[in-house]
Amino acid sequence: MTSADRFDASIDHWLHLMTEPWNRLRYTLYRHNLARHMTGEALSVLDIGGGNGGDSIPLALQGHQVALVDYSQKMLDEAIKQAREQGVEDQISVHHTTLKSLPTIFPEAAFDVVLCHNVIQYVDDMPQAIKIISELTRNAGIISIISTNRYSETLQAATLRMDLDEALSKLDVTNTHSLVFDTPVNYYSAQEVIDVLTAAGCELLGHYGVRCVMDYIHDNDAKGDPEFYQKLERLELAMSDKYPYYLTARFFQIITHRRL
Ligand SMILES: C[S@@+](CC[C@H](N)C(=O)[O-])C[C@H]1O[C@@H](n2cnc3c(N)ncnc32)[C@H](O)[C@@H]1O
Repeated sequence: MTSADRFDASIDHWLHLMTEPWNRLRYTLYRHNLARHMTGEALSVLDIGGGNGGDSIPLALQGHQVALVDYSQKMLDEAIKQAREQGVEDQISVHHTTLKSLPTIFPEAAFDVVLCHNVIQYVDDMPQAIKIISELTRNAGIISIISTNRYSETLQAATLRMDLDEALSKLDVTNTHSLVFDTPVNYYSAQEVIDVLTAAGCELLGHYGVRCVMDYIHDNDAKGDPEFYQKLERLELAMSDKYPYYLTARFFQIITHRRL
């Protein structure tokens, strides 16, 4: 089974997970952080490993033109279906291919905005992936990278699952196996990714935490309560760029400019 097959096989589980409060919240936070760096004009966006369009479709609804790339055909089929339902199919082009082959499909550094959200943890060569991402971005264009924060693993085990042995064993964790996608996963710190982006000629614009507290609240039922959820969203939006809270969030979101 190839890696793409594993993502194909998990599509129903993935779509179910998207309805959970913690997943709804993370897309709200991604959008909020990205919006801080986008002007009002219509831009060309490349969404690498864009999956079923969780980021692409809201950007198309805002008037942007999006190229969505993914190596899972099932994810792309779902993105196309949702784009049609939302009336934005003319603003989204889908490309069934791998991150590595993007330079041959898009030989110019043409995109105003390049997203790579929750993908670098699945690739075998993160620095090479970031080099490709940066070379697809026009001068002064925006790059947004999101990945699971290595430091959240111990905190999440200790608080959410209250498993202190697991928490201790994860202090220096750098990889695991994804239960959702049945595939290996790497864990990075935000600083490691910032260093690689800087080496690839990018300039840091923003370092955000996505879900600074939600993953450390043990009571998952409370998160489904609309009033609690609303307050949590307000808190998370306020914490996402506040030191030191963003450093221990479940995900990091790094936004840079490309400098040629
Ligand atoms: C966890 S999902 C994230 C989807 C979306 N970016 C989001 O945040 O909702 C990871 C996606 O990346 C795709 N993917 C992983 N590695 C890839 C690669 N090397 N080339 C293309 N797509 C890839 C998978 O098929 C999957 O749709």
